[in-house]
Amino acid sequence: MFTINENFLRLNENYLFTTVAEKIKQFSSEHPDANIIRLGIGDVTLPLPPAVIKALHKAVDEMAVKETFRGYGPERGYDFLLEKIAENDYRAHGIDISTDEIFVSDGAKSDTGNIVDILGENNMVGITDPVYPVYLDSNIMRIKERSITNSKIVFLPCHPENNFLPEIPKKRVDVIYLCYPNNPTGTVMKRDELKRWVIYALENKSLILFDAAYEAYVTEDDVPHSIFEIEGAKSCAIEFRSYSKNAGFTGLRCSYTVVPKELKTKASNGTYVSLNQLWLRRQSTKFNGTAYIIQRAAEAVYSPEGKEEVKGLVNYYLENAKTIREGLQEKGWTVYGGVNSPYIWLKCPDTNDSWQFFDRLLNERHIVGTPGVGFGPSGEGYFRLTAFNSHEKTREAIERIKKWEI
Ligand code: MLT
Repeated sequence: MFTINENFLRLNENYLFTTVAEKIKQFSSEHPDANIIRLGIGDVTLPLPPAVIKALHKAVDEMAVKETFRGYGPERGYDFLLEKIAENDYRAHGIDISTDEIFVSDGAKSDTGNIVDILGENNMVGITDPVYPVYLDSNIMRIKERSITNSKIVFLPCHPENNFLPEIPKKRVDVIYLCYPNNPTGTVMKRDELKRWVIYALENKSLILFDAAYEAYVTEDDVPHSIFEIEGAKSCAIEFRSYSKNAGFTGLRCSYTVVPKELKTKASNGTYVSLNQLWLRRQSTKFNGTAYIIQRAAEAVYSPEGKEEVKGLVNYYLENAKTIREGLQEKGWTVYGGVNSPYIWLKCPDTNDSWQFFDRLLNERHIVGTPGVGFGPSGEGYFRLTAFNSHEKTREAIERIKKWEI
């Protein structure tokens, strides 16, 4: 009889957002007239920017003509997009990243999940708690059971007392996942603090996996957009970026990962190996690239109109974040995030049970959020709301909460 990867049996039965979706479906079928406001999954709600739509149409037309039709694309992505990324997201900010350090992909979720393919099974892995579930689950899927019971994962609790910033672990970690602006807490890691982590990684020969999917939401000067703003980071970090939350690509799918050429580690045979080479090998074996039309759409994000339109989308959601943050504060609730982030993290006002609060909010106010405990044990008693909805629905949600006797 064939066998399975039994690590999957050690995962929660459902991915967090699948459980939330099932609960909403159940509630809707029992209350078909309920006007549910969804502030749960971090999925954008505004349409794609006109510059992106225009580029998509043009690219589709090219695919219909023999002379401009494209089949398989280059492994790292098309030069037209790689050049735009290197110039606009890095060189324009004084960061020297070359096009052969960038890998275009179909989502930061895929890349943060797949990166474990090129890392050893015996690494001690530092994961913040609460955390975007993909980092933890992808490690559980891969690390041998024997290893996990030997605690190959070190949880780094993040709570109000440490400003949601993980403390440098006493026990050495080989790999550390950092996501800032943070999902789920909406909090940030300022430049000085990120520098401490880069120094730690350089001193310990550790690797930082830096998820910058929410960098477009940074509004404050002392908050970095990229880990490569920090000196030395190119020798110890991989950065993940996405077009989902800024340009609305959650359905279109496009992202990129930067693996600097300086980033090397020693293999067991004593030779130094480039992670850039390994990631290229991994991607060219298991991935055939992001569609040409989608890469043209991503390129349009960097056009003058695209930049303005994307700024408009981000500002729209930031305004919602402000509405939520200030509305809940007026009600006397304790809230975090929502300044450099589309996420607002709140202390459940009446209970220490996040799922109980989820059920009450859905049943009594017809509002969906995400239970903090779904992101890890330190999230118990907390709750996440997203700014990804219309101004009208966001305001209505806050009005419903304000009138709630809780
Ligand atoms: C979330 O709600 O945390 C996001 O949808 C995560 C993601 O982008 O996959």
